[in-house]
Amino acid sequence: MSVVGVLTAGGDCPGLNAVIRGVVARAEQVGVEVVGIRNGWEGLMKDRTMQLERDDVRGILGRGGTILGTSRMDPYVHGDGLTSCNRTLSRNGIESLIVIGGDGTLRSAMKLAEEGLPVIGVPKTIDNDIAGTDVTFGFATAVQIASDAIDRLTTTAEAHNRVIVVEVMGRTKGWIATYAGISGGADAVLIPEYPYDLDAIAQTIRKRHRAGHSYSIIVVAEGVKPPKGYEPPVMKKDAFGFDRLGGVSFQIADAIEDLTQFETRVSVLGHIQRGGTPVASDRVLATRLGVAALDFANDGMTNVMAAVQGNEIVAVPMKIATESIRGVPEDIYATAAVFFN
Ligand code: F6P
Repeated sequence: MSVVGVLTAGGDCPGLNAVIRGVVARAEQVGVEVVGIRNGWEGLMKDRTMQLERDDVRGILGRGGTILGTSRMDPYVHGDGLTSCNRTLSRNGIESLIVIGGDGTLRSAMKLAEEGLPVIGVPKTIDNDIAGTDVTFGFATAVQIASDAIDRLTTTAEAHNRVIVVEVMGRTKGWIATYAGISGGADAVLIPEYPYDLDAIAQTIRKRHRAGHSYSIIVVAEGVKPPKGYEPPVMKKDAFGFDRLGGVSFQIADAIEDLTQFETRVSVLGHIQRGGTPVASDRVLATRLGVAALDFANDGMTNVMAAVQGNEIVAVPMKIATESIRGVPEDIYATAAVFFN
C-alpha cells in the first residue's frame, strides 16, 4: 500500500490528534503517504483533503479537538455509500482508509468495507461504551475532568449545606458517572444500566445530614430516566437521529429537594468533558492505536478495528462494535455503591 486516508468523524474526543500523529509518524517510517480528510465523512464525500506529513503533526500530541475537523454527516445517511466517496478516493489515490470514530461511524466504516473499500477502524468515545475493546481513549480524560469538578462542587456544597446533583455525559451508559463517582467520592450515582430508588437516596441524604455531613454529592448520567411523576423532556435529535441528551438532573434535583427539604443545586458538566488536553494515559493509548491502525492497513487488513484487550492492541472485527453497546458491569457499579451511605 502506498497511500492511506485518515478521517475523524462523530463527536470529538481528547486524543484524536494523538491518533492522527501516530498514523502519520508510522506511515513515514514505513514509506506510506497519508491523505487527511477534513470534517469527517463530509470531506470524503466532497473531496476536502490535506496532505499529512510528519511536520504537520508536530506539537499536536496534547491538543484537544482534531486538526482534521469532524462532523456528524454520514455517507449512508447523507449520501449513497461508497459511490459518494469514490471521486475523492480515486482523485487522491487512496487505497485504504483509517476511520477514527464511535459506534455510528464504525457502522458506516464497516459498510464501506463490505462494499469493497479496505477500511481500518479506531474506536473513540469519551463514553467508553464500544463493544470489542476494553477501553476507549478520551474516557480517562473525561473522568478526570468530572472528578475534578466533583472535588470543586464538594467544597461549595459543604460550605452551603447543600445537595449538589452533577450531571455527566455518557449517552445510554454510565461509565463516566460510575468512574467519576468512585473517584470523586459520590454519595449516590445514577446510571441507565440499573434502576434507581429516590426514596432510598433521600434516606441516605437525611442520614448523612443527621450524622453531621450536611452536604451530599449525587452523580447522574445524562441517559437516566426521569423520576416517577416527571415527563421525559422533549429532545432534539442529532444528525444520526440520536436524542440530544442533557437536563434530566434538574428533574432529579427537584424530586430530591421535595423529598428531603434540603437545598439542592444542579451542575451539568456538558461538553467541558470533551474539551482540552488529553491525560497521559489517553495520549499513550491513542498513540498506540494510531500506530497499530497504520500497520493493520499496511498489512492489507480490512473491516477490523484496532482494539485494546488486556494490554495488547489487537485487530477485532468492526462488526463486534456495531452489535451491542457495552454497559457498566455489576461489580464495578457495586464498588461505587459501597460508599452510598
Ligand atoms: O458520544 C459522546 C457524547 O459526548 C455523549 O456523551 C453526548 O451525549 C453526546 O456525545 C453529545 O453530542 P453533541 O456533541 O452532538 O452534543
